[in-house]
Amino acid sequence: MTDARFEPSGPLRGSLRPPSDKSISHRAALIAAMGEGETDIEGYLEAADTRSTLNAMRALGAKVSGHVTISASLDPPGSWSTRAKTIEGVGLRRACPSPIDVGNAGTLLRLLPGWLAGQPRGAWTLDGDDSIRRRPVDRIAVPLRQMGADLSAREDRLPPLEVRGAPLRGITYEMPIASAQIKSCLLFAGLLAEGETRIVEPLPSRDHSERMLAAAGADVRREDDAVVIRPAERLEPGRIVVPADISSAAFFIIAALLVERSEVVLEEVNVNPTRTGLLTILERMGAAVEREGEREEGGEPIADLRVRPASLQATEVGGAEIPLAIDELPLVALAACFAEGRTVIRDAEELRRKESDRIETVTAALRALGGKIEPTADGMVIEGTGGLRGGAIESHGDHRIAMLGAVAGLASKEGVEVQGMDAAAVSYPGFESDLSRLLNR
Ligand code: S3P
Repeated sequence: MTDARFEPSGPLRGSLRPPSDKSISHRAALIAAMGEGETDIEGYLEAADTRSTLNAMRALGAKVSGHVTISASLDPPGSWSTRAKTIEGVGLRRACPSPIDVGNAGTLLRLLPGWLAGQPRGAWTLDGDDSIRRRPVDRIAVPLRQMGADLSAREDRLPPLEVRGAPLRGITYEMPIASAQIKSCLLFAGLLAEGETRIVEPLPSRDHSERMLAAAGADVRREDDAVVIRPAERLEPGRIVVPADISSAAFFIIAALLVERSEVVLEEVNVNPTRTGLLTILERMGAAVEREGEREEGGEPIADLRVRPASLQATEVGGAEIPLAIDELPLVALAACFAEGRTVIRDAEELRRKESDRIETVTAALRALGGKIEPTADGMVIEGTGGLRGGAIESHGDHRIAMLGAVAGLASKEGVEVQGMDAAAVSYPGFESDLSRLLNR
Protein backbone atom coordinates (compact mmCIF):
# COMPACT_ATOMS: atom_id res chain seq x y z
CA MET A 1 0.00 0.00 0.00
CA THR A 2 1.45 3.38 -0.95
CA ASP A 3 0.59 6.73 0.60
CA ALA A 4 0.67 10.09 -1.14
CA ARG A 5 0.29 13.72 -0.04
CA PHE A 6 -1.64 16.34 -1.97
CA GLU A 7 -0.86 19.93 -0.95
CA PRO A 8 -3.12 22.95 -1.54
CA SER A 9 -2.33 23.85 -5.11
CA GLY A 10 -2.16 26.66 -7.61
CA PRO A 11 -4.55 26.53 -10.56
CA LEU A 12 -5.01 23.49 -12.78
CA ARG A 13 -4.42 24.50 -16.40
CA GLY A 14 -4.21 22.82 -19.78
CA SER A 15 -5.89 19.99 -21.58
CA LEU A 16 -5.69 16.24 -21.49
CA ARG A 17 -7.57 13.17 -22.58
CA PRO A 18 -8.62 11.20 -19.51
CA PRO A 19 -8.23 7.42 -19.67
CA SER A 20 -10.65 5.39 -21.72
CA ASP A 21 -14.03 4.42 -20.38
CA LYS A 22 -13.97 1.46 -18.01
CA SER A 23 -17.58 0.34 -18.57
CA ILE A 24 -17.22 0.47 -22.35
CA SER A 25 -13.84 -1.32 -22.26
CA HIS A 26 -15.20 -4.24 -20.21
CA ARG A 27 -18.10 -4.60 -22.63
CA ALA A 28 -15.85 -4.29 -25.67
CA ALA A 29 -13.63 -7.16 -24.50
CA LEU A 30 -16.62 -9.36 -23.63
CA ILE A 31 -18.52 -8.73 -26.86
CA ALA A 32 -15.35 -9.14 -28.95
CA ALA A 33 -14.69 -12.48 -27.23
CA MET A 34 -18.28 -13.59 -27.95
CA GLY A 35 -17.84 -12.51 -31.55
CA GLU A 36 -16.66 -14.23 -34.71
CA GLY A 37 -13.28 -13.31 -36.16
CA GLU A 38 -11.17 -10.34 -35.16
CA THR A 39 -12.42 -7.21 -33.41
CA ASP A 40 -10.20 -4.14 -33.17
CA ILE A 41 -10.76 -2.17 -30.00
CA GLU A 42 -9.26 1.29 -30.19
CA GLY A 43 -8.38 3.00 -26.93
CA TYR A 44 -8.98 -0.01 -24.68
CA LEU A 45 -8.47 1.09 -21.06
CA GLU A 46 -5.10 0.02 -19.65
CA ALA A 47 -5.95 -0.44 -15.98
CA ALA A 48 -6.15 -3.21 -13.41
CA ASP A 49 -9.90 -3.83 -13.81
CA THR A 50 -9.89 -4.07 -17.57
CA ARG A 51 -6.72 -6.18 -17.50
CA SER A 52 -8.71 -8.68 -15.41
CA THR A 53 -11.30 -8.77 -18.20
CA LEU A 54 -8.69 -9.39 -20.92
CA ASN A 55 -7.17 -12.21 -18.85
CA ALA A 56 -10.62 -13.71 -18.38
CA MET A 57 -11.31 -13.55 -22.13
CA ARG A 58 -7.98 -15.30 -22.79
CA ALA A 59 -8.92 -18.00 -20.27
CA LEU A 60 -12.19 -18.53 -22.15
CA GLY A 61 -10.32 -19.09 -25.39
CA ALA A 62 -10.17 -15.65 -27.04
CA LYS A 63 -6.84 -14.52 -28.51
CA VAL A 64 -5.80 -11.05 -27.41
CA SER A 65 -3.02 -9.00 -28.96
CA GLY A 66 -2.13 -5.36 -28.54
CA HIS A 67 -0.50 -2.61 -30.54
CA VAL A 68 0.00 1.14 -30.29
CA THR A 69 -1.11 3.50 -33.04
CA ILE A 70 0.93 6.70 -33.23
CA SER A 71 -0.83 9.54 -34.97
CA ALA A 72 1.29 11.32 -37.55
CA SER A 73 -1.20 14.07 -38.29
CA LEU A 74 -1.17 15.96 -35.00
CA ASP A 75 0.98 18.83 -33.99
CA PRO A 76 3.71 17.93 -33.15
CA PRO A 77 3.48 14.73 -35.21
CA GLY A 78 3.32 11.63 -33.08
CA SER A 79 2.23 13.64 -30.03
CA TRP A 80 -0.74 11.42 -29.53
CA SER A 81 -1.05 7.69 -29.41
CA THR A 82 -3.79 5.18 -28.75
CA ARG A 83 -3.47 1.65 -27.62
CA ALA A 84 -5.50 -0.80 -29.57
CA LYS A 85 -6.33 -4.40 -28.82
CA THR A 86 -7.27 -7.02 -31.30
CA ILE A 87 -9.41 -9.84 -29.97
CA GLU A 88 -10.09 -12.96 -31.95
CA GLY A 89 -13.40 -14.17 -30.56
CA VAL A 90 -14.28 -17.70 -29.45
CA GLY A 91 -17.86 -17.31 -30.68
CA LEU A 92 -21.08 -17.10 -28.72
CA ARG A 93 -21.37 -20.79 -27.76
CA ARG A 94 -17.77 -22.01 -27.43
CA ALA A 95 -16.36 -20.53 -24.19
CA CYS A 96 -13.64 -22.83 -22.75
CA PRO A 97 -14.06 -24.02 -19.15
CA SER A 98 -11.60 -22.32 -16.78
CA PRO A 99 -11.42 -20.69 -13.34
CA ILE A 100 -11.87 -16.91 -13.69
CA ASP A 101 -10.09 -14.36 -11.48
CA VAL A 102 -12.08 -11.11 -11.74
CA GLY A 103 -9.64 -9.24 -9.44
CA ASN A 104 -11.44 -6.11 -8.19
CA ALA A 105 -13.80 -5.83 -11.18
CA GLY A 106 -17.46 -5.91 -10.12
CA THR A 107 -18.57 -5.29 -13.69
CA LEU A 108 -16.76 -8.42 -14.92
CA LEU A 109 -18.20 -10.41 -12.00
CA ARG A 110 -21.76 -9.39 -12.88
CA LEU A 111 -21.62 -9.34 -16.69
CA LEU A 112 -19.69 -12.49 -17.54
CA PRO A 113 -22.08 -15.03 -15.90
CA GLY A 114 -24.79 -13.99 -18.37
CA TRP A 115 -22.68 -15.31 -21.23
CA LEU A 116 -21.39 -18.42 -19.41
CA ALA A 117 -24.81 -19.47 -18.06
CA GLY A 118 -26.08 -20.18 -21.57
CA GLN A 119 -23.11 -22.25 -22.81
CA PRO A 120 -24.04 -25.71 -24.13
CA ARG A 121 -21.44 -27.27 -21.80
CA GLY A 122 -18.75 -26.40 -19.25
CA ALA A 123 -18.39 -25.04 -15.71
CA TRP A 124 -16.69 -21.90 -14.41
CA THR A 125 -15.84 -20.45 -10.99
CA LEU A 126 -15.60 -16.67 -10.69
CA ASP A 127 -13.66 -15.27 -7.73
CA GLY A 128 -11.62 -12.18 -6.93
CA ASP A 129 -10.05 -10.03 -4.21
CA ASP A 130 -11.36 -9.30 -0.68
CA SER A 131 -13.54 -6.45 -1.93
CA ILE A 132 -15.07 -8.68 -4.65
CA ARG A 133 -15.94 -11.28 -2.03
CA ARG A 134 -18.26 -8.71 -0.43
CA ARG A 135 -20.06 -7.79 -3.68
CA PRO A 136 -23.50 -9.41 -3.99
CA VAL A 137 -24.21 -11.71 -6.93
CA ASP A 138 -27.75 -12.76 -5.99
CA ARG A 139 -28.91 -9.76 -8.05
CA ILE A 140 -27.87 -11.68 -11.17
CA ALA A 141 -28.34 -15.23 -9.86
CA VAL A 142 -32.06 -14.72 -9.17
CA PRO A 143 -33.08 -13.69 -12.72
CA LEU A 144 -30.56 -16.03 -14.38
CA ARG A 145 -32.10 -18.96 -12.49
CA GLN A 146 -35.53 -17.89 -13.74
CA MET A 147 -34.05 -18.27 -17.22
CA GLY A 148 -32.96 -21.82 -16.37
CA ALA A 149 -29.35 -21.14 -15.34
CA ASP A 150 -27.43 -23.45 -13.03
CA LEU A 151 -25.46 -21.33 -10.51
CA SER A 152 -24.32 -21.46 -6.93
CA ALA A 153 -22.70 -18.87 -4.70
CA ARG A 154 -21.31 -18.65 -1.17
CA GLU A 155 -24.24 -18.12 1.21
CA ASP A 156 -26.26 -18.00 -2.02
CA ARG A 157 -25.27 -14.37 -2.60
CA LEU A 158 -21.49 -13.82 -2.57
CA PRO A 159 -18.48 -14.93 -4.66
CA PRO A 160 -17.03 -17.38 -5.42
CA LEU A 161 -19.77 -17.88 -7.97
CA GLU A 162 -20.06 -21.18 -9.82
CA VAL A 163 -21.75 -21.24 -13.19
CA ARG A 164 -22.55 -24.37 -15.17
CA GLY A 165 -23.75 -24.06 -18.75
CA ALA A 166 -27.45 -24.87 -19.23
CA PRO A 167 -30.24 -24.27 -21.75
CA LEU A 168 -31.85 -20.86 -21.11
CA ARG A 169 -35.30 -19.49 -21.95
CA GLY A 170 -36.27 -15.86 -22.37
CA ILE A 171 -38.18 -14.18 -19.54
CA THR A 172 -39.63 -10.82 -18.61
CA TYR A 173 -37.70 -9.50 -15.64
CA GLU A 174 -38.58 -6.39 -13.68
CA MET A 175 -35.32 -5.29 -12.12
CA PRO A 176 -35.79 -4.31 -8.48
CA ILE A 177 -32.80 -1.92 -8.75
CA ALA A 178 -31.64 0.29 -11.59
CA SER A 179 -28.41 -1.50 -12.44
CA ALA A 180 -26.64 -1.54 -15.79
CA GLN A 181 -24.67 -4.54 -14.60
CA ILE A 182 -27.79 -6.67 -14.05
CA LYS A 183 -29.31 -5.44 -17.31
CA SER A 184 -26.14 -6.24 -19.28
CA CYS A 185 -25.82 -9.69 -17.71
CA LEU A 186 -29.37 -10.54 -18.77
CA LEU A 187 -28.82 -9.13 -22.25
CA PHE A 188 -25.87 -11.49 -22.71
CA ALA A 189 -27.94 -14.41 -21.40
CA GLY A 190 -30.76 -13.36 -23.74
CA LEU A 191 -28.44 -13.82 -26.73
CA LEU A 192 -28.34 -17.54 -25.88
CA ALA A 193 -31.88 -18.07 -24.59
CA GLU A 194 -34.85 -19.48 -26.42
CA GLY A 195 -37.34 -16.75 -27.30
CA GLU A 196 -37.37 -13.13 -26.27
CA THR A 197 -35.85 -11.67 -23.08
CA ARG A 198 -37.46 -8.48 -21.78
CA ILE A 199 -35.71 -6.49 -19.05
CA VAL A 200 -37.75 -3.76 -17.41
CA GLU A 201 -35.72 -0.99 -15.78
CA PRO A 202 -37.14 0.92 -12.81
CA LEU A 203 -35.03 3.89 -14.01
CA PRO A 204 -32.73 4.26 -17.02
CA SER A 205 -29.12 3.20 -16.45
CA ARG A 206 -26.05 3.31 -18.72
CA ASP A 207 -26.88 1.79 -22.11
CA HIS A 208 -23.44 0.95 -23.52
CA SER A 209 -24.26 -2.77 -23.81
CA GLU A 210 -27.38 -2.12 -25.87
CA ARG A 211 -25.49 0.19 -28.23
CA MET A 212 -22.57 -2.18 -28.68
CA LEU A 213 -24.68 -5.32 -29.10
CA ALA A 214 -26.83 -3.61 -31.73
CA ALA A 215 -23.67 -2.52 -33.59
CA ALA A 216 -22.47 -6.15 -33.50
CA GLY A 217 -25.68 -7.30 -35.20
CA ALA A 218 -27.83 -8.38 -32.23
CA ASP A 219 -31.59 -7.88 -32.31
CA VAL A 220 -31.92 -5.57 -29.31
CA ARG A 221 -34.41 -2.74 -28.99
CA ARG A 222 -35.90 -0.39 -26.42
CA GLU A 223 -39.64 -0.52 -25.77
CA ASP A 224 -40.68 2.17 -23.27
CA ASP A 225 -38.98 1.25 -19.99
CA ALA A 226 -37.84 -2.18 -21.22
CA VAL A 227 -34.92 -3.48 -23.25
CA VAL A 228 -35.84 -6.47 -25.40
CA ILE A 229 -33.32 -8.88 -26.90
CA ARG A 230 -33.72 -11.91 -29.14
CA PRO A 231 -31.27 -14.80 -29.47
CA ALA A 232 -28.38 -14.45 -31.91
CA GLU A 233 -26.51 -16.99 -34.01
CA ARG A 234 -23.36 -14.88 -34.11
CA LEU A 235 -21.97 -11.45 -33.25
CA GLU A 236 -19.68 -9.48 -35.53
CA PRO A 237 -18.45 -6.36 -33.72
CA GLY A 238 -15.70 -5.55 -36.27
CA ARG A 239 -14.31 -2.36 -34.70
CA ILE A 240 -15.03 -0.67 -31.37
CA VAL A 241 -13.80 2.78 -30.34
CA VAL A 242 -13.60 3.57 -26.62
CA PRO A 243 -14.00 7.24 -25.65
CA ALA A 244 -12.55 8.85 -22.49
CA ASP A 245 -14.29 8.05 -19.21
CA ILE A 246 -16.45 10.77 -17.68
CA SER A 247 -16.07 9.00 -14.33
CA SER A 248 -12.30 9.60 -14.49
CA ALA A 249 -12.66 13.10 -16.00
CA ALA A 250 -14.92 13.87 -13.02
CA PHE A 251 -11.93 14.16 -10.64
CA PHE A 252 -10.41 16.96 -12.72
CA ILE A 253 -13.82 18.55 -13.29
CA ILE A 254 -14.25 18.92 -9.53
CA ALA A 255 -10.62 19.98 -8.99
CA ALA A 256 -10.91 22.73 -11.63
CA LEU A 257 -14.20 23.91 -10.12
CA LEU A 258 -12.76 24.17 -6.62
CA VAL A 259 -9.25 25.52 -7.22
CA GLU A 260 -9.19 29.24 -8.04
CA ARG A 261 -8.07 30.46 -11.47
CA SER A 262 -8.12 26.95 -12.97
CA GLU A 263 -9.13 26.24 -16.55
CA VAL A 264 -8.93 22.73 -17.97
CA VAL A 265 -10.19 21.02 -21.08
CA LEU A 266 -10.89 17.29 -20.87
CA GLU A 267 -10.87 15.82 -24.33
CA GLU A 268 -12.97 13.15 -26.07
CA VAL A 269 -15.11 12.47 -23.01
CA ASN A 270 -18.12 10.19 -23.35
CA VAL A 271 -21.24 12.33 -22.82
CA ASN A 272 -23.80 9.58 -23.26
CA PRO A 273 -26.87 11.01 -21.44
CA THR A 274 -26.98 7.89 -19.25
CA ARG A 275 -23.58 8.96 -17.83
CA THR A 276 -23.80 12.74 -17.46
CA GLY A 277 -25.80 13.05 -14.24
CA LEU A 278 -22.82 14.79 -12.62
CA LEU A 279 -22.94 17.60 -15.20
CA THR A 280 -26.66 18.18 -14.56
CA ILE A 281 -26.11 18.24 -10.80
CA LEU A 282 -23.18 20.65 -11.09
CA GLU A 283 -25.18 22.94 -13.33
CA ARG A 284 -27.87 23.13 -10.67
CA MET A 285 -25.16 23.94 -8.12
CA GLY A 286 -24.09 26.90 -10.26
CA ALA A 287 -21.21 25.46 -12.28
CA ALA A 288 -21.27 25.44 -16.06
CA VAL A 289 -19.14 22.74 -17.66
CA GLU A 290 -18.98 23.75 -21.32
CA ARG A 291 -19.25 21.05 -23.97
CA GLU A 292 -17.21 21.78 -27.06
CA GLY A 293 -17.11 19.93 -30.37
CA GLU A 294 -19.92 17.50 -29.59
CA ARG A 295 -19.68 14.59 -32.00
CA GLU A 296 -20.28 10.88 -32.23
CA GLU A 297 -17.61 8.23 -32.33
CA GLY A 298 -18.20 4.48 -32.36
CA GLY A 299 -21.90 4.85 -31.55
CA GLU A 300 -21.32 6.99 -28.44
CA PRO A 301 -21.59 10.80 -28.11
CA ILE A 302 -18.36 12.53 -27.07
CA ALA A 303 -17.30 16.12 -26.35
CA ASP A 304 -14.42 18.15 -24.96
CA LEU A 305 -15.33 19.55 -21.55
CA ARG A 306 -14.07 23.00 -20.50
CA VAL A 307 -14.18 23.66 -16.77
CA ARG A 308 -13.56 26.84 -14.77
CA PRO A 309 -14.10 27.60 -11.07
CA ALA A 310 -17.55 28.56 -9.81
CA SER A 311 -19.15 29.35 -6.49
CA LEU A 312 -21.48 26.53 -5.65
CA GLN A 313 -24.93 26.30 -4.09
CA ALA A 314 -26.27 23.27 -2.24
CA THR A 315 -28.67 20.95 -4.03
CA GLU A 316 -30.85 17.86 -3.60
CA VAL A 317 -29.97 14.73 -5.55
CA GLY A 318 -32.22 11.66 -5.79
CA GLY A 319 -34.57 9.57 -7.94
CA ALA A 320 -33.77 9.16 -11.61
CA GLU A 321 -30.57 11.18 -11.28
CA ILE A 322 -28.89 8.55 -9.08
CA PRO A 323 -28.10 5.87 -11.72
CA LEU A 324 -26.88 8.58 -14.10
CA ALA A 325 -24.29 9.78 -11.58
CA ILE A 326 -23.79 6.71 -9.38
CA ASP A 327 -19.97 6.62 -9.52
CA GLU A 328 -19.66 10.42 -9.21
CA LEU A 329 -21.77 10.81 -6.04
CA PRO A 330 -18.64 10.79 -3.81
CA LEU A 331 -17.45 13.85 -5.77
CA VAL A 332 -20.86 15.52 -5.41
CA ALA A 333 -20.41 15.12 -1.64
CA LEU A 334 -16.94 16.69 -1.87
CA ALA A 335 -18.21 19.63 -3.94
CA ALA A 336 -21.09 20.04 -1.46
CA CYS A 337 -18.56 20.67 1.36
CA PHE A 338 -17.48 23.78 -0.59
CA ALA A 339 -21.03 24.91 -1.44
CA GLU A 340 -23.36 27.25 0.38
CA GLY A 341 -26.16 25.43 2.21
CA ARG A 342 -27.20 21.85 2.90
CA THR A 343 -26.92 19.21 0.18
CA VAL A 344 -28.97 16.03 0.44
CA ILE A 345 -28.19 12.84 -1.52
CA ARG A 346 -30.97 10.25 -1.25
CA ASP A 347 -32.15 7.05 -3.03
CA ALA A 348 -28.50 6.01 -3.31
CA GLU A 349 -28.38 2.90 -1.12
CA GLU A 350 -26.53 1.18 -3.98
CA LEU A 351 -23.46 3.19 -2.90
CA ARG A 352 -23.13 0.71 -0.06
CA ARG A 353 -22.43 -2.10 -2.58
CA LYS A 354 -19.60 -0.55 -4.56
CA GLU A 355 -15.84 -1.24 -4.24
CA SER A 356 -16.32 -0.03 -0.65
CA ASP A 357 -19.46 1.00 1.25
CA ARG A 358 -19.22 4.49 -0.23
CA ILE A 359 -21.74 6.01 2.15
CA GLU A 360 -19.41 5.05 5.00
CA THR A 361 -16.05 5.62 3.29
CA VAL A 362 -17.02 9.03 1.85
CA THR A 363 -18.45 10.16 5.19
CA ALA A 364 -15.34 8.99 7.07
CA ALA A 365 -12.99 10.64 4.55
CA LEU A 366 -14.73 14.01 4.42
CA ARG A 367 -15.19 14.13 8.21
CA ALA A 368 -11.47 13.45 8.68
CA LEU A 369 -10.81 16.54 6.55
CA GLY A 370 -13.15 18.81 8.55
CA GLY A 371 -16.34 18.32 6.49
CA LYS A 372 -19.78 18.38 8.10
CA ILE A 373 -21.43 15.28 6.68
CA GLU A 374 -23.91 12.76 8.06
CA PRO A 375 -24.54 9.33 6.55
CA THR A 376 -28.15 8.20 6.06
CA ALA A 377 -29.52 4.77 5.13
CA ASP A 378 -29.63 5.73 1.45
CA GLY A 379 -27.27 8.68 1.08
CA MET A 380 -25.62 11.60 2.83
CA VAL A 381 -26.44 15.05 4.15
CA ILE A 382 -23.65 17.60 3.72
CA GLU A 383 -23.53 21.01 5.35
CA GLY A 384 -21.48 23.28 3.12
CA THR A 385 -18.83 25.18 5.08
CA GLY A 386 -17.10 26.85 2.14
CA GLY A 387 -13.99 24.66 2.36
CA LEU A 388 -12.10 21.80 3.96
CA ARG A 389 -9.26 21.92 6.48
CA GLY A 390 -7.36 18.82 5.34
CA GLY A 391 -5.85 15.85 7.16
CA ALA A 392 -5.43 12.16 6.37
CA ILE A 393 -7.81 9.68 4.77
CA GLU A 394 -7.83 5.99 3.94
CA SER A 395 -8.81 4.73 0.49
CA HIS A 396 -10.05 1.37 1.85
CA GLY A 397 -8.70 -0.04 -1.42
CA ASP A 398 -11.35 1.92 -3.35
CA HIS A 399 -9.95 3.72 -6.41
CA ARG A 400 -12.58 6.46 -6.38
CA ILE A 401 -12.01 7.24 -2.68
CA ALA A 402 -8.24 7.52 -3.25
CA MET A 403 -8.69 10.04 -6.09
CA LEU A 404 -11.35 11.93 -4.15
CA GLY A 405 -8.75 12.41 -1.39
CA ALA A 406 -6.25 13.79 -3.89
CA VAL A 407 -8.73 16.35 -5.24
CA ALA A 408 -9.77 17.30 -1.70
CA GLY A 409 -6.09 17.92 -0.91
CA LEU A 410 -5.61 20.41 -3.76
CA ALA A 411 -8.65 22.42 -2.66
CA SER A 412 -8.01 22.14 1.11
CA LYS A 413 -6.29 24.58 3.46
CA GLU A 414 -3.66 22.21 4.85
CA GLY A 415 -3.37 19.36 2.33
CA VAL A 416 -4.45 15.73 2.45
CA GLU A 417 -2.53 12.52 2.91
CA VAL A 418 -4.12 9.56 1.13
CA GLN A 419 -3.30 6.15 2.60
CA GLY A 420 -3.60 3.51 -0.12
CA MET A 421 -3.24 5.80 -3.14
CA ASP A 422 -2.21 2.80 -5.26
CA ALA A 423 -5.90 1.81 -5.44
CA ALA A 424 -6.28 4.46 -8.18
CA ALA A 425 -4.68 1.99 -10.62
CA VAL A 426 -7.95 0.04 -10.75
CA SER A 427 -9.36 2.61 -13.19
CA TYR A 428 -6.67 5.33 -13.59
CA PRO A 429 -3.03 4.17 -13.34
CA GLY A 430 -1.61 7.53 -14.56
CA PHE A 431 -3.74 9.68 -12.27
CA GLU A 432 -0.93 11.30 -10.30
CA SER A 433 1.17 12.12 -13.37
CA ASP A 434 -1.85 13.56 -15.23
CA LEU A 435 -2.62 15.67 -12.18
CA SER A 436 0.98 16.93 -12.09
CA ARG A 437 0.64 17.83 -15.77
CA LEU A 438 -2.41 19.98 -15.11
CA LEU A 439 -0.60 21.61 -12.20
CA ASN A 440 2.33 22.28 -14.59
CA ARG A 441 4.80 20.55 -12.33
C1 S3P B 1 -21.29 -0.23 -14.19
C2 S3P B 1 -22.51 0.05 -13.64
C3 S3P B 1 -22.68 0.66 -12.32
C4 S3P B 1 -21.41 1.35 -11.86
C5 S3P B 1 -20.18 0.51 -12.07
C6 S3P B 1 -20.03 0.15 -13.54
C7 S3P B 1 -21.24 -0.90 -15.51
O1 S3P B 1 -23.04 -0.36 -11.43
O2 S3P B 1 -21.50 1.71 -10.50
O3 S3P B 1 -19.03 1.22 -11.65
O4 S3P B 1 -20.20 -0.86 -16.16
O5 S3P B 1 -22.26 -1.47 -15.89
P1 S3P B 1 -24.58 -0.84 -11.31
O6 S3P B 1 -25.09 -0.98 -12.67
O7 S3P B 1 -24.60 -2.15 -10.60
O8 S3P B 1 -25.24 0.25 -10.53
